Amino acid sequence: MKLLYLALANIAIASRPQAVLQLDLSPEYQPLPPLRQQAAIQDAWTAERKAGIPSILQKYNVDAWIISQREYAEDTVFWSLKSAQQFSARRRTTYLFLAHNSSSPSFAWVDNTPSLWPELERVLGEQEHEVEKIAVNTHPEIAFSSGLHAGELDAVKKGLGKDWASRLVSEPMVAVEYVATMPSSRAGWYAKLQETAWAVIGEAFSGSVIEPGRTTTEDVEWWMREKLSDLKYGTWFHPSVSVVDEAGFFGSEGKVIEHGDLLHVDFGVTAMGMNTDTQHLGYVLRPGEDDVPEGLKEGLKKGNKAQDIVKANMKIGMTGNEILKRSLEDMKAEGIEGRVYSHPIGDWGHAAGALIDEIFLYCPNMYYSVELMVEHFVPERNATLQFPLEEDIRHVGGDEWVWAFGRQEKFHLVRSEARKIKSDEL
Ligand SMILES: *[C@@H]1O[C@H](CO)[C@@H](O)[C@H](O)[C@H]1NC(C)=O
Ligand SMILES: *[C@@H]1O[C@H](CO)[C@@H](O)[C@H](O)[C@H]1NC(C)=O
Repeated sequence: MKLLYLALANIAIASRPQAVLQLDLSPEYQPLPPLRQQAAIQDAWTAERKAGIPSILQKYNVDAWIISQREYAEDTVFWSLKSAQQFSARRRTTYLFLAHNSSSPSFAWVDNTPSLWPELERVLGEQEHEVEKIAVNTHPEIAFSSGLHAGELDAVKKGLGKDWASRLVSEPMVAVEYVATMPSSRAGWYAKLQETAWAVIGEAFSGSVIEPGRTTTEDVEWWMREKLSDLKYGTWFHPSVSVVDEAGFFGSEGKVIEHGDLLHVDFGVTAMGMNTDTQHLGYVLRPGEDDVPEGLKEGLKKGNKAQDIVKANMKIGMTGNEILKRSLEDMKAEGIEGRVYSHPIGDWGHAAGALIDEIFLYCPNMYYSVELMVEHFVPERNATLQFPLEEDIRHVGGDEWVWAFGRQEKFHLVRSEARKIKSDEL
C-alpha cells in the first residue's frame, strides 16, 4: 500500500546494463486450512514468539513488561499475543512478562476486581532478580509501543502503588521487536499467502476479467474483493487499480480500461494473522499485438534493478534512513530516477520495525515490503511514465533476504478479442 508521507526526492543520471533473470512463476490459489487447523497453526506460532520475550527484555535491559487493557480497549500488542480463539480482551486482561525467571516467565490475569493488583505486586516482589525496570507501552510516537490506554495507565499506577509505579519505563523497542520478529515456521504460509495474492492479480489482469472498452478500474477492484471473500481470505485495504499515464498512477478512479493501457494494482491479502502488500503492472494488448511495447518492458526492468538495489542494501543493524540513503545513491549511480518508500509488514500491513526513517534498526527474521517507483521514458508514448512496484521479502539470516514468493519481471497481459476496433488503435 502506498505510503505517501515517505516519498522522497528524485534523482537522475545515465544507465548501466544488467542481466535480469526472467522467472516463470505460475501462481496458484492456495486454499486455507479449516478454521480449527488454522487456529492450531497460529497458536504454535504465537507460542514460539512468546518464548522469545525474555531475551527481548534482557536485550533492552528491562526486568519486566506489563501489558494491561480492558475489553475493547486493547493494547496494540494484544493482537500479537492473543490466542486464535480470542476475539478481544475480557474484563481487565493484564499480562506480566519477566526477563529473568525461566521457570515462570509470564503471567496473565483476567479480572475485574481489585484483587489483581496485590497478586501482581506479590509476583513482582518475590522475584530473585530484583524488578527495577518495568516496560509499559507508552511511547508518544510509535504505534506498536504506545498501546497502553491513558486511563489504563492511571489504573496500573494506582493499582501498583507508588514504589512499583516509579519503576515503569517506556522502552519502545520491546514492543517493536516482539511484533516485528516472525517465527521461522511462519515462512511457508507467508509464501502461500503471497502466491494467492499473485494469483488474484493474475486473474484480475486477464481477459477473463477485463473487457477493454467496457470494464472500469473500479470493476476490477471489486472483482478482487469478491474473489478474496470467495477464497475465505481478507484484506487490510481496498485494492487500488489504475491506468498509468503521464500524470502518474493512483489517478484513474472508475476509468474505463482501453487497449494499450498500462495497468497498475496495489493489493494485499490478510489470512492467519498475516498481511501481504503487492504492486504489479499489467498491459492491455491492442488487437493484433502479441507483446508489450519495448519501452514499457525497459521500464519494468529498471524497476527490477531498483528492487535489487534496495534488497542488497538491507543490512541488519542499519537505520532505515541509512538504507534509504545508500539505495538512492546506488540508484543514482545506475542512472535510475525514482523513489523508495518501503516498510515492514507481517502482523500488520504497515508493521513494526525499521521504516525508512531513523527511529529503528532492523530486527532479524522480519518481513519487509520493498516498495518503490522508477521513472522511465517510453518512446512509444513519447512520455516519461512511473513504474511502481512492490514485493514482500523475508529475512533469512545474516544480511540475506529472499522474495516471499517471487517478484514481477513480466507484465500481466490482458488479451482480448477486439469488439470494435478504433482506427487510432491500428
Ligand atoms: C519465578 O516466579 C515465581 C512466581 O512469582 C516465584 O515463585 C519464583 O521464585 C521465581 N523464580 C525466580 C528464579 O525468581
Ligand atoms: C514528444 O513530446 C514533446 C514534448 O511534449 C513534443 O515537443 C514532441 O513534439 C513530441 N514528439 C512527437 C513525435 O510527438
